[in-house]
Amino acid sequence: MALVEIRDVFKSYWLHGKRIDVLSGVSLDIERGELVSLVGASGAGKSTFLHVLGTLDAPVAGSLHFDGTSVFELSDAGLARFRNRTIGFVFQSHFLLPEFTALENVAMPALVQRVDRAAALAQARALLERVGLGARLDHRPGELSGGEAQRVALARALVLQPALLLADEPTGNLDPATGEGIHQLLREVNRDLGITMVVVTHNEVLARSMPRQLRLQAGKVLRA
Ligand SMILES: Nc1ncnc2c1ncn2[C@@H]1O[C@H](COP(=O)(O)OP(=O)(O)OP(=O)(O)O)[C@@H](O)[C@H]1O
Ligand SMILES: [Mg+2]
Repeated sequence: MALVEIRDVFKSYWLHGKRIDVLSGVSLDIERGELVSLVGASGAGKSTFLHVLGTLDAPVAGSLHFDGTSVFELSDAGLARFRNRTIGFVFQSHFLLPEFTALENVAMPALVQRVDRAAALAQARALLERVGLGARLDHRPGELSGGEAQRVALARALVLQPALLLADEPTGNLDPATGEGIHQLLREVNRDLGITMVVVTHNEVLARSMPRQLRLQAGKVLRA
């Protein structure tokens, strides 16, 4: 069984009485341990697809199974619990909390889940070392470079050991060399921690460095 089975997913938005069809029949399997890139024109629906895949937004029609569980049939509380345990997000902007240090930001999701404080901080420290920021634990986001802040955001997304990591243009605000560094890190995390990942990017060169490449076009997900 694939980790994720997406079947005939449709998603539309309604705005001022007009319907905007974004996803029109997306079907896809994502296997455990895969590293997938997703490209597509601006407005094609990449973020919309990632929101549905991350269960932040329900589709109009279609199904999403994780490990055989039909997630949109869970109760709201059940879905929130499932999402917290299973999915990590990295967005284009890092959304770090400015008043907290890098270490505290990374530990935060674990602290919110009432993981023991010492254990959460130890795990956060290990992850920050993993992303090359062992010497920046006490820096607040305003005291980090853009690439460093994005690496902190990646560490934070990993602290609860998600089965699936979703990254929406994690290198969009970075210069090309720093962006390549983040992609390199994503490949290492995928390889070393075995975390399944879907990475949206506008950068075709970086997209092609991923083992599996998808394109979102005309409401469908195709092989790139
Ligand atoms: N909340 C919303 N209400 C109405 N329309 C929306 C909403 N969110 C997105 N859209 C529309 O849906 C389409 C897909 O948006 P989406 O953000 O998924 O595109 P994208 O592929 O991520 O683009 P980009 O590369 O620019 O980030 C766009 O045409 C957008 O205008
Ligand atoms: Mg987007």
